[in-house]
Amino acid sequence: MRRRQFIAGTGLVGAGAVAGLAGCEPDRPAPPRPATAAAQPNLSSWDGVRAEFDLDPAWAHFAAFVLAAHPRPVRRAIDAHRRGLDANTEDYLRRQELGLEDEVLAAAADYLGAEQGEIALTDSTTMGLGLLYGGLRLRPGQEVLATEHDFYSTHESLRLRAGADGTPWRRARLYRDPHTASAGEIVDAVRHAVGARTRALAITWVHSSTGVKLPVRAIADALGEVNRGRDPGDRVLLCVDGVHGLGVEPTEPAELGCDFLAAGTHKWLFGPRGTGLLWARRSAWDAVTATIPTFDRRAGRPGPRFGAVMTPGGYHSFEHN
Ligand SMILES: Cc1ncc(COP(=O)(O)O)c(C=O)c1O
Repeated sequence: MRRRQFIAGTGLVGAGAVAGLAGCEPDRPAPPRPATAAAQPNLSSWDGVRAEFDLDPAWAHFAAFVLAAHPRPVRRAIDAHRRGLDANTEDYLRRQELGLEDEVLAAAADYLGAEQGEIALTDSTTMGLGLLYGGLRLRPGQEVLATEHDFYSTHESLRLRAGADGTPWRRARLYRDPHTASAGEIVDAVRHAVGARTRALAITWVHSSTGVKLPVRAIADALGEVNRGRDPGDRVLLCVDGVHGLGVEPTEPAELGCDFLAAGTHKWLFGPRGTGLLWARRSAWDAVTATIPTFDRRAGRPGPRFGAVMTPGGYHSFEHN
């Protein structure tokens, strides 16, 4: 699903993100798909776009950076799945899970311009960041460098990691004043802050505190120079909280040049509340290990496995995700 189609197509994501269930092989043919499809909305006018949402018209709504209001296709899909789950929970799960999981991964991969195996399905940006920073494989002495501009979820993930095993981390300031910040100033600050022990750089694509959008590609290029002389295990990994870029910027993660990108899909993408993803470049897969057991049976099979291994298991609020 491409960016410009996302509102019209969000029903597919809502219908598709039912997580896989290890050990629950389907023993009967899939039933007809739930009736989530609807007439194509008219998105050629602002009124047409607004009509897709149930937002209170008495208010001006500027909070898609917090949590999305569900547009009509998402509401419809959630209603259909809720009815199915309430009517016969276990049977509905068995019947729907396989195809829907594949569909949501295919849609996410298409949207990101990525391979399906590169994508773990999460509940939020925060979950993706926690999995990433909790699971980074670090050698004694290696540190994580964050910035002063990241959201709480990055800093708290690193604080928890430090509390658990003493992993050192620190924050760098990338610009003095958000109004005058330039790409040159930011890239220079990164070059200056990265040290010999830095194994990962944690940054945020668009800062919720200031609105500053980082020049991620230029930062990746600067790290490329730093990494040229390093062993693979010492290479600085570029880890991005991408939630305020995804769904707004057309750039795909591979083009950004990062190694990991965590984002919720329940803000600017208007996906179901409680959905997100963690993307990883293939060369970085071995740098992280899972901390939440997956229920995805693909994790036990040969082939591309990052997404399956890193997708948290447990039964979820399936009508949403
Ligand atoms: C930069 C940034 N990252 C992460 C989050 C949290 O996102 P999520 O709800 O997907 O965990 C927020 C705000 O909600 C944010 O501003």
